[in-house]
Amino acid sequence: MKKTHIKHILITGGAGFIGSHVVRLFVNKYPDYLIVNLDNLTYAGNLANLKDVDQAENYKFVKADICDYESMLEVFREYSIDGVIHLAAESHVDRSIKDPFTFAQTNVMGTLSLLQAARESWSGDWADKLFYHVSTDEVYGALEFDDSLFTETTSYDPHSPYSASKASSDHFVRAYYDTYGMPIVISNCSNNYGPYQFPEKLIPLFINNIRHGKSLPVYGKGENIRDWLYVIDHARAIDLVFHEGKVRETYNIGGFNEWKNIDLIKVIIKTVDKQLGNPPGTSDHLITYVTDRAGHDLRYAIDSTKIKNELGWEPSLQFEEGIAKTVAWYLENQEWMDQITSGAYEEYYQEMYLKR
Ligand code: NAD
Ligand code: TYD
Repeated sequence: MKKTHIKHILITGGAGFIGSHVVRLFVNKYPDYLIVNLDNLTYAGNLANLKDVDQAENYKFVKADICDYESMLEVFREYSIDGVIHLAAESHVDRSIKDPFTFAQTNVMGTLSLLQAARESWSGDWADKLFYHVSTDEVYGALEFDDSLFTETTSYDPHSPYSASKASSDHFVRAYYDTYGMPIVISNCSNNYGPYQFPEKLIPLFINNIRHGKSLPVYGKGENIRDWLYVIDHARAIDLVFHEGKVRETYNIGGFNEWKNIDLIKVIIKTVDKQLGNPPGTSDHLITYVTDRAGHDLRYAIDSTKIKNELGWEPSLQFEEGIAKTVAWYLENQEWMDQITSGAYEEYYQEMYLKR
């Protein structure tokens, strides 16, 4: 059933990679909605990701921490929030290995704080309300090198502090339906790629390193497999799940697009060299095998049959096209990348919002 009567939507983590694409899609597609982007602008939050929509009439930005329960209550009250799309999180596995506490705090306690603020604000009147939690396939653990896939009924078996914190938050979200009756929906997506991804993640990091002739640190033997989806296809899926997904259901989202890391890296090198006008093979020597990530999950692969059959979603872009567009975007937006690597992006908020 379409839920277009839910019009005051709180999107958390909207200054991050996926969140900025979701904010852009909703602000442009639904001019009669109010889109409140709540983000506390950690290192991963960058308001420059939203320059093209931040003056829109139906858009508001709030700088706040989802762990701050009183502030969450205030935001629900001030903007009469009736729908939540929750993306704010600590999202990088390597950081979670170094600093698990921050992941438990933001991903578990932050999600709980937001759930409780929704429950308190909606006071048991669940009509025309929805709490949509955006999660990851990493909660299912790791697959062998075979043809198995994660489905919506695969048991949770997280291995990294990141995936353990996301799994925990998924359980809390379901508990709010089972205990209090709050309408919730969850989606679990595979690895995303595309514009505006923070350059600590494989694809933007490697594009930028090739551009600067820097080494490409391949963990272990580069044999781990990930299932890659273009970020705008994820945003389209989120739109569909938000409006047409069934309450208390889970939807897996993925591209049926598995790549061994080393093969993907070779495609990235080839594409960057081609777009820079370098002779083929110019940057191959940058590949550097380094110590493997601790607990490195072997393989992720999503079965997205359910969202296809029930909601009619399919990826719109072939991988070759998506990767060529992505490489082109990073090469054309070198300034965006330089602002991040220099730290200057953090000043954008000061200029845009504090001095106004
Ligand atoms: P990201 O790290 O690029 O962005 C996260 C955003 O959340 C940032 O803008 C950050 O400032 C904000 N944030 C962090 N802590 C906050 C807090 N305490 N309060 C308010 N805002 C806070 O992440 P992403 O890659 O865009 O991922 C978004 C969501 O999608 C996450 O929940 C992640 O688990 C999930 N996900 C990501 C992928 C992927 O491939 N990137 C795949 C599946 C699911
Ligand atoms: P990443 O983009 O961090 O996503 P995730 O760990 O959530 O899947 O990494 C994707 C894959 O690339 C993963 O198997 C780890 C590997 N990787 C490297 O080999 N080198 C790197 O420098 C990074 C960041 C990742």
